[in-house]
Amino acid sequence: MLSRVMDENLGGIRVVRAFAAQRHELEKFDRAKLSALELANQRVDIRVANTSAMNFSFLAAMGLVLWFGGQKVIAGQISVGTLAQFLTFMTILQMPVRQLGLMVNSFARASTCGTRLFELLDAELDIEDAPGARDLVVTDGVLRFDNVGFRYEGAGGRPTLSGISFEARSGETVGIVGPPGSGKSTIAHLIPRFYDVTSGSITIDGQDIREVALQSLRKAVGVVQQDAFLFTTSIENNIAYGNPWARETRIGQAAEYAQLHNYIIGLPAGYTTVVGERGASLSGGQRQRLTIARSLMLRPSVLVFDDSTAAIDAGTEQRIRAAMKRFARDRVTLIISHRLSSLMHADQILFVEGGRVVERGTHEQLLALGGRYRALYDLQLRPDDDRPLAGAA
Ligand SMILES: Nc1ncnc2c1ncn2[C@@H]1O[C@H](COP(=O)(O)OP(=O)(O)OP(=O)(O)O)[C@@H](O)[C@H]1O
Ligand SMILES: [Mg+2]
Repeated sequence: MLSRVMDENLGGIRVVRAFAAQRHELEKFDRAKLSALELANQRVDIRVANTSAMNFSFLAAMGLVLWFGGQKVIAGQISVGTLAQFLTFMTILQMPVRQLGLMVNSFARASTCGTRLFELLDAELDIEDAPGARDLVVTDGVLRFDNVGFRYEGAGGRPTLSGISFEARSGETVGIVGPPGSGKSTIAHLIPRFYDVTSGSITIDGQDIREVALQSLRKAVGVVQQDAFLFTTSIENNIAYGNPWARETRIGQAAEYAQLHNYIIGLPAGYTTVVGERGASLSGGQRQRLTIARSLMLRPSVLVFDDSTAAIDAGTEQRIRAAMKRFARDRVTLIISHRLSSLMHADQILFVEGGRVVERGTHEQLLALGGRYRALYDLQLRPDDDRPLAGAA
């Protein structure tokens, strides 16, 4: 938890600055830090207490045996040998007892971890096919959010999303921008039904996504996640992850769209190069481009980029966009980004704040409106600004 918050913050430092959200992030970090420290302290406390209690009782028992045994030896009731034997047995016997303690300890740890694991597995089951669900049929490829509201389970207070409505058809791009924590990723996660909406509905070509077979939905929706997750296997396998029977030409094509092909063929082992643990041997931008290629492989009808170009330099991003033009022609593309240059060309831009769409329109309309979007634009992109372009570093 702690390391994740730290990682996010270091990675997203520019974002945090752009939105003047340092305080928010610092508080988040402080909370994670304090609770991690508290838990670590508790653990040390318990361990110290237990070990001392164990040692104390063993030594006390030893002392008692010596005391009473010694008296008996002096009185001539038992021999010194018997006493020594008894002490030796006791010392030998304490080992298994200690081990039993350790075993109980690790059993407890394993069972809590197991419970968590099962909670996770069970949570996945919350989202299930409706009885008699049929496969999603994509014809025109119209994605529609109709007054969508959402609240994370167990999260009290305000809903995470409310009153989100928009419609996009095949070939169109929707841009979503807004401060950290405003609910952008949540919007992205609702489309493949990682969670179900609490109110309103999401439809694809008029079919409520809760009523279609989950597998067909997830095939039709590709989400390039904010935190690129890679597996410790070859580049090829990572790209083809959604499709083990993928042909090489298609893998190469996806990599080309994602502007990764030239880099890969420059590697000694090419496409069979194994990326380190979770892709550790790749740069952040390369990891993101790899996950982009992976999503392209699925040829989804709805393609969502959740901040997936944050670690890619502006020039490469431009090339990815250019290469994707043809690809984007027959699908809905959702671009979530903190960088306005990534989404200013979208057909429709939503500015989300506090889980609501507070401004919407094209880039020009939003600039003319002179509101939140305009302010962000002035901060990031105004041409005669002497600051470097946001994200161009
Ligand atoms: N799994 C979850 N359970 C409970 N609350 C969550 C969960 N995920 C996100 N939230 C909360 O929902 C709100 C919206 O989060 P979300 O991740 O959608 O924001 P975001 O706009 O994508 O932010 P960022 O720009 O940092 O990626 C936040 O307040 C967040 O704390
Ligand atoms: Mg997000």
